[in-house]
Amino acid sequence: MPDYRRRAAREAMSVRVDVNGMMADAIGQAGVAREEVETLATRAAEIAASLKARRTAGALPFYELPYEKDALARTKALAAEVRAESDTLVVLGIGGSALGTKTLVAALGDAAPRVLVADNVDPWSFGRLLDGIDLARTTFNVISKSGETAETMAQFLIVRDLLLRQFGAVDYTKRVVVTTDAESGALRQVIHDEGFRDLAVPDGVGGRFSVLTAVGLFPAAVAGLKVDDLLAGAAWMDSRCADVDLWRHPAHLLTTLLYLANTQHRQNIVVMMPYSDRLQSFAAWFAQLWAESLGKALSVDGTPAHTGQTPVVAVGATDQHSQLQLYAEGPADKVIIMVHVEDHGRELPVPSAYIDLESIGYLGGTGLGQLLNLEQQATELALVKQQRPVITITLPQINAFTLGQLFYLFEVAVVFAGGLYRINPLDQPGVEESKRFTYGLVGRKGFETKRAEMEAWWARRRSAYVL
Ligand code: PA5
Repeated sequence: MPDYRRRAAREAMSVRVDVNGMMADAIGQAGVAREEVETLATRAAEIAASLKARRTAGALPFYELPYEKDALARTKALAAEVRAESDTLVVLGIGGSALGTKTLVAALGDAAPRVLVADNVDPWSFGRLLDGIDLARTTFNVISKSGETAETMAQFLIVRDLLLRQFGAVDYTKRVVVTTDAESGALRQVIHDEGFRDLAVPDGVGGRFSVLTAVGLFPAAVAGLKVDDLLAGAAWMDSRCADVDLWRHPAHLLTTLLYLANTQHRQNIVVMMPYSDRLQSFAAWFAQLWAESLGKALSVDGTPAHTGQTPVVAVGATDQHSQLQLYAEGPADKVIIMVHVEDHGRELPVPSAYIDLESIGYLGGTGLGQLLNLEQQATELALVKQQRPVITITLPQINAFTLGQLFYLFEVAVVFAGGLYRINPLDQPGVEESKRFTYGLVGRKGFETKRAEMEAWWARRRSAYVL
């Protein structure tokens, strides 16, 4: 395809970010004034320059993931092997090792899923998943960057035992692919010892930034998704984020407005509300990215910060009949990000009937997708009229190219937000303590003091407060 045609095709599939509903012009004092953005422009430019320098120095490798062709080739080759061997891939992983894949499979996968994601240790759901698969036609993909996450390791041990019993010590390893750090961690050791096929999570790419690595790309390729388009979409968004002008940078402008909403307008909740069932998992992916990256006790200079905007997952039109009342009339503490999909890839026409009953008959001749989209527009205006800030993100279609753009848009946005809040968006110290208590409770060596702390807490609890 000639370059000008390719560019036109990409323009036509561009994800658009509309911030009209965030601005003071539209919603008065609840909105962000242009001058507020201008006041931040110098700082925003400094943060952008610092991120660019760190990117160039290789300190932020997630930016380069759309261009990692060698890793992609290896991932695709292994996916082709697994597709030939099995009907089902079961991903064992949690958090950033699962949510990207869940998004991809829910948005783009078949009605009969080839890829299942087990991201909890609920014995009911995991047991049912194992009961429902044919082990002989299943491959397991154990995904853990650290190689020691308790939930994933517990699942792995159960699966390993099942496989060992059914296929024996030599053959069972052929039914597992392990995705973990290239060098370190217990799982890497297990790969060396037992010879599982493996893929690497690139150095410096944390879980919630890993959907465009083998973590997300391998299951996506096994599911038959267009992983090249996913990366092309991310690269396209990267090119759209090259502009240094804040008003023309989709990710940095989005973040600046959310930051000002949070810090100047006390809007400390951000609702992600796609008008598509297929994007509900995307909202969960976003929630993890925003919560884990920005919820921090300390700023980079060690002073107290307690930053963050609480993400909420909603789906339109369903939650118009559940949460919208609160968004429209409750506390003015939320920004609502709506995701509008122009073409749902299928339409179901509503037949004409009851034409003499106006309250039902008017629906005849409308399509369900059309109704869903009109409801999004109607709700956007209803919220704006109540001076509730709204950002509308439009996807021409849900496909690998547009999803790649969405992932990259928010990853770039959240790292920039880290600069504005002056916190480190790449770590997650707040989740470590709970892990240490779990280790103590389960009996892991070296965590005895954590168990003692837990017992002290149990002893302090007063029975009068337990009803
Ligand atoms: O984003 C993150 O870093 C976390 O959500 C991790 O992905 C999650 O804790 C799982 O970690 P691991 O991949 O090491 O098992």
